[in-house]
Amino acid sequence: MGPPRPQRNDVTVPSSAAEKTAFLRCIGCGATNDSAAPDFRCTHCGDLLEFVFHGWSYEPTKLKSLWLNRRTSIGKSSIGRPSIGRPTITKPAVGKGRAGHTSDELDQSGVWRFREMLPHIPEEHAITMGEGNTPLYHLHRCARSTGVENLFAKHQGMNPTASFKDTGMTFAASSAHQAGFRWVACASTGNTSASMAAYAARGNMSSLVLIPEGKISWGKLSQSLDYGALTCQLRTDFDGCVRILSELVLQKPVYLLNSVNPYRIEGQKTAAIELMEQLGWEAPDHIIVPGGNLGNSSAIGKALLEMRELNLISRLPKLSIIQAEGANPFYRCVREFGGAKLEAMAAETFATAIRIGNPASWKKALRVLRATGGEVEQVSEVEIAEAKAEIGADGIGCEPASAVTLAGLKKLRARGFVKPGEMVVLILTGHLLKDPDFTIKFHRGDLFLSPEGKETTGSGSVATSQAAPIPQKSLRRAPLVIDAELGAVIAALDAAETKT
Ligand code: F0G
Repeated sequence: MGPPRPQRNDVTVPSSAAEKTAFLRCIGCGATNDSAAPDFRCTHCGDLLEFVFHGWSYEPTKLKSLWLNRRTSIGKSSIGRPSIGRPTITKPAVGKGRAGHTSDELDQSGVWRFREMLPHIPEEHAITMGEGNTPLYHLHRCARSTGVENLFAKHQGMNPTASFKDTGMTFAASSAHQAGFRWVACASTGNTSASMAAYAARGNMSSLVLIPEGKISWGKLSQSLDYGALTCQLRTDFDGCVRILSELVLQKPVYLLNSVNPYRIEGQKTAAIELMEQLGWEAPDHIIVPGGNLGNSSAIGKALLEMRELNLISRLPKLSIIQAEGANPFYRCVREFGGAKLEAMAAETFATAIRIGNPASWKKALRVLRATGGEVEQVSEVEIAEAKAEIGADGIGCEPASAVTLAGLKKLRARGFVKPGEMVVLILTGHLLKDPDFTIKFHRGDLFLSPEGKETTGSGSVATSQAAPIPQKSLRRAPLVIDAELGAVIAALDAAETKT
């Protein structure tokens, strides 16, 4: 008996309202398909697929108030049907695994409440944890240090599993449920796997995680274990994990949940829609995102272009993508090769979430970079660590990969690409507590120590620019170990007071 035939993923899903139909189209040869192969690659040319929508036309003001109404009222699933009296708290559906939510529950999700801009997935397959609905913060101190007064952070680390992955995962895990898969799988630097494991558990599916051994943070690994995934630490890097998984899905009936899966991209689009809603549908001048496998930049860019097409916004923000110097294949693709090719590399950075040398979605990201007039930048390890401490000092905090956005902004400011009066939104992708090890090492002054105990600008094989200075000591706040005496604490307080 040969290997089990992989299931195909049916995707031609006319919306219930029948006015909008979603199709999959190849970004390379343009072929459209009724269903996707298990690796979500075009069967003609092997390139990535994306959803396109036919026949959608909405009255922008009606759509905006429909979305707002959903968020602000429990028990009211559409305009014209207001809830009266007590809010209706709906019971979870029974007898369908744990997937299946009423439209009232979907309305409370910052992803599903924007479903008019998504392919249709029936409610009985929806797996939601109330994701999205993330805060937009003004970064007071960072605004002063960058000279950009209107500086905001959209904190996607405030999602149920503490990273932006949940917005794509709720949607893609639901599509796996709809297609009837028992197993879902991903290769990951830690956040996708945490998110997938949680959503699979909520939807009563089993999950397989492939992660690079020793190269993901404990926080992320612990999530995947706790949510019950079969977790395999492979002796390779992220790109090696991706290679093995792409072969596995062709042999076994497991549903691929990496961001080559176009449902992931659709769910992740909603972060940009929600951002525009928070800004009263006035687009900022710049949106800045970290670039790893480049799914997120592709998703946010796709949302911007679609919102423009639907007249939900009147102009496009510039979407800029920032990479770590040691994991900069996209930066080099744009700057050195004019976007003509992407050369894969062996990636190395302390920001393990974006330690990726062969990003799958580079062509999609290139397209949105060009369509919005954005820029690419690369930042050193020291610049990342300093930017992270600055975001922390604003009382917000994030994981290292998210901090490349602030470090990149400083460079874009220095080059004059971002002007002082412009409005800038940084997309913070992961929560501070995802990688406490990095934070503690930085504040203790251990992050950049060479094996001989000398402070350097990078560590071991982590690449960093020659000119980078060692991190500013003023950003560090190492814990003090002192005697349990009132006098010692008062002395520490007085010393801190004279420093500020
Ligand atoms: N920031 C964080 C915190 C991430 O976890 C990732 C990617 C990125 C930025 C980059 O986003 O890949 O869409 O360009 N993490 C993936 C993972 C690869 O497996 O968790 P991207």
